[in-house]
Amino acid sequence: MKVIETRIDPRSDGFATNSAAYHELVDVLRERQQVVLDGGPGRERAIERHLDRGKIMVRDRIDCVIDSGTPFLELSTLSGFGQYDDGAPGAGIVTGIGLVHGVPYMFIANDATVKGGSLLPTSIKKHVRAQDIALENGIGVIYLVDSGGAFLPLQDEVFPDKDHFGGSFYRQARMSAAGLPQLSVVLGGCTAGGAYVPALSDEVIMVDGIGRIYLGGPPIVKAALGEIVEPDDLGGAVLHTRTSGVSDELAHTEREAYGRLRELCLATNQRRVGEGPGWLDVIDPEPPRYPAEEIYGIISADDRIPFDSTEIIARLVDASRFSPFKPEWGESIVCGFARIWGHLVGVIANQGIIFNEEALKTTHFIELCEQRRVPLLFLQNTSGYMVGKESEARGIAKDGAKMVYAVANATVPKFTVLIGGAYGAGNYGMCGRGFNPRFLFSWPNSRCATMAANTAQTVLVDIRLAGMKGAQTTEEEIAALRKEVADQYETQSDPYYGTSRIWDDGLIDPVHTRDALGLCLALSARQDAPAPGPGLVYRM
Ligand code: COA
Repeated sequence: MKVIETRIDPRSDGFATNSAAYHELVDVLRERQQVVLDGGPGRERAIERHLDRGKIMVRDRIDCVIDSGTPFLELSTLSGFGQYDDGAPGAGIVTGIGLVHGVPYMFIANDATVKGGSLLPTSIKKHVRAQDIALENGIGVIYLVDSGGAFLPLQDEVFPDKDHFGGSFYRQARMSAAGLPQLSVVLGGCTAGGAYVPALSDEVIMVDGIGRIYLGGPPIVKAALGEIVEPDDLGGAVLHTRTSGVSDELAHTEREAYGRLRELCLATNQRRVGEGPGWLDVIDPEPPRYPAEEIYGIISADDRIPFDSTEIIARLVDASRFSPFKPEWGESIVCGFARIWGHLVGVIANQGIIFNEEALKTTHFIELCEQRRVPLLFLQNTSGYMVGKESEARGIAKDGAKMVYAVANATVPKFTVLIGGAYGAGNYGMCGRGFNPRFLFSWPNSRCATMAANTAQTVLVDIRLAGMKGAQTTEEEIAALRKEVADQYETQSDPYYGTSRIWDDGLIDPVHTRDALGLCLALSARQDAPAPGPGLVYRM
């Protein structure tokens, strides 16, 4: 593979302008993440109460469990952002991947300082998404349970439907049966729905004095049966470990529980990261030849000006080496082979609009990767498939459909990063959320919507005016309508809007992308080979 020769001049004015603008985006991202890491705005009282009870903060709990000095890939840190009156930082639940004795585990940890750790609609979505990631990537789950169960005022949005609370229990039981360890430490009052998470686990540790499990808490028992009972007598660690057997181990402190949990992990018989059946070609990694920070200066501050995705690839892949596929045909999509942290990967990156040639080239490339069992990385930056008379006459709908078909049916691991625009069916053809990439991350400059705000205001206003069938409309009314539509599209395509609703697995700094993808690829490499797909390569 040849080294990509950069054409970027880091001393140019354009680079400086872009870089300054991107630094502002990254500053906002870090600020907003820090607010969540600090426990969220206005949460001092709840945090104080939590600490006064001798309890450890949720992220510190995870730190107590994972191997010291190893990173934790936190997912969807900004979920819940701007929702629930900004009162649910991280949607009250922390999920992410960390190592215990070198074995990767998914952590699902309630933040009891947010609504008593109860699960809001976004929290349950995050919980279920973490379980789906665990199942697909073949990793066990550690539940640090400190939860009041379903968030009762919104019970219709968390209880009855397929991927609601019931779906999380279903996944837990299925993962356990699939040999993926389900381990719980009980750290708070786990009532009703919250009680079933430990009850459905393979092994359970309860912490005396703070951990409680009951299907109905003392107030419910009093109301239903007239019994007055202390919380620990109803569902404390001693009762459940020595009498009911709901818990397997009793720990006197949180730290003792985490030490014991690490011991339990020694006997789960799971592959470590770096161990695997060898279906994926992995060699020693090399850092990219160009600094990742240069990505800030490459992405245009003005999103109407395109940027060269090959320059982005050069800053993500090992030694900046890349072997392009069909480089002189269908040039608005770059396809080719590279390595990330030593793992062979097929990269597909947009350079703008997708035309017929690009759709066909990408389909051909996906087939190649599928036949060779090479994971796929999609770097999305497109306004969608080409529209217009010429394009329609050339059958863009059917060529785009081939690409969509190939993406949907590829069985190799797929990963997606939104590095710019993610508009229209282009988002689907480039393995958007609906196409189940194993992980999907967004950059703070990205935008995801059916179409860009400036296009939407024209299209939607024209549709509305046509619907009014010639009724008198003033210029001011039309301008107000345009503004309303543009504002709606601006708001909803904002990456914070999307990450808040778990349309991605996290909004990340471009500089961290290579490491995140390296872990994702390493998870795939430790699994058995993906089931063979059709394995056919049709020349397009
Ligand atoms: N739904 C909605 N809000 C809940 C909740 C739930 N299931 N569980 C707790 N909360 C809220 C409380 O109303 C309180 O809100 P506030 O801060 O606005 O006053 C906050 O979370 C903290 O709860 P609090 O009871 O003060 O904290 P605690 O640490 O003493 O007790 C629990 C935590 C979870 C043990 C306790 O709140 C509880 O038992 N909740 C009810 C659980 C339940 O019945 N769940 C049924 C689910 S199917």
